[in-house]
Amino acid sequence: MFNVIAKKYGDPDILIYEKSASHKIASDSVRINVKGIGVNFADILIIKGKYQERPRPPFSPGLEVSGIISEIGSNVKKFKIGDSVVAIMKYGGYKTEVVVPQENTYFLPQGMDLLEAGGFPVIYGTAFSAIVTKARLKKNEKCVILGATGGVGMAAIEIAKAYGANVIACGGDDRKLSECLKKGADTVLNYNNNILRQELKKIGVSEVDVVIDMVGGQSSLDLVKSLKWDGRIIIVGFTSGKIPEIPANRLLLKNARAEGLYWGELAYRKPEEIEKDLKVLGQLFKDNKLNPCINKIFDLQDAPQALKELSDRKNIGKIILKC
Ligand SMILES: NC(=O)c1ccc[n+]([C@@H]2O[C@H](COP(=O)([O-])OP(=O)(O)OC[C@H]3O[C@@H](n4cnc5c(N)ncnc54)[C@H](OP(=O)(O)O)[C@@H]3O)[C@@H](O)[C@H]2O)c1
Repeated sequence: MFNVIAKKYGDPDILIYEKSASHKIASDSVRINVKGIGVNFADILIIKGKYQERPRPPFSPGLEVSGIISEIGSNVKKFKIGDSVVAIMKYGGYKTEVVVPQENTYFLPQGMDLLEAGGFPVIYGTAFSAIVTKARLKKNEKCVILGATGGVGMAAIEIAKAYGANVIACGGDDRKLSECLKKGADTVLNYNNNILRQELKKIGVSEVDVVIDMVGGQSSLDLVKSLKWDGRIIIVGFTSGKIPEIPANRLLLKNARAEGLYWGELAYRKPEEIEKDLKVLGQLFKDNKLNPCINKIFDLQDAPQALKELSDRKNIGKIILKC
């Protein structure tokens, strides 16, 4: 099998594509012949050694794959050889073949393209946990998505709309924001134009129920000030590079809560919860409420270019590696 390996920490161009021996299969694992691999912002951080998960080199990045099961361990009952699946891992997905515990492997949503499914679990799973499980978003609530122009953000727009919310999508690029409108956002705001709280006031919004935050920094602090009574802010990421220090008095005054989400770890601690979520997401996909947006597909050996495209913020939608 072939894989893309980081032999030291650094930028994506340190990645090496090479042949290596297949992994042994454990009794409760499946071997997957990989077809598609989702490229995520976390892959850039993990290669640099700046992610929560810090594997020691050499290692392969990659949180999610799709493919066909080619072998099953002796205790595997849920799957058979030939099944089309997606799988989630802490790292190690940039490979033509992976061995994954059966509990972190899930059937492909019905009707989804096998290659494109490689980019589905992380962004949709994260957005679902943030909006439905953590924020418990209700119909007609006002939901701000900070970082709406990214992978998780675009998935979040679709899910929030599917649950009947009024969605305000915030990003830093007008071209990408116009895609957010096509995804169903009711309003878009560019956080580079002005203080977000003032931008909200300009469109007649003084308070919001829910904030899903992928960006952090000053915009995040602005939005805490805009939370309604019983408001919720869900912390998903810090793409701005700045971790906001949320003032506790703001939460107290609004009876509000700020809650963190670490979906990758949740997927390992509560795989049964992820399975339930993916089933709901599969149904939403079948009902045409979700329309995963693929930006570009690269060959696995071109992983450094794929990651560069993501770090240059050129992409609208998901980047996929194919085997
Ligand atoms: N907590 C979890 O379990 C979990 C799970 C998945 C992802 N995440 C995190 O969520 C964040 C978003 O992930 P993603 O897959 O949606 O990433 P992505 O597709 O690369 O999108 C990045 C988003 O952040 C915005 N952004 C603002 N400042 C940025 C900067 N300096 N560099 C890059 N982007 C910037 C971008 O908007 P503009 O370009 O329009 O400004 C875009 O909306 C990441 O931090 C990721 O690690 C967390």
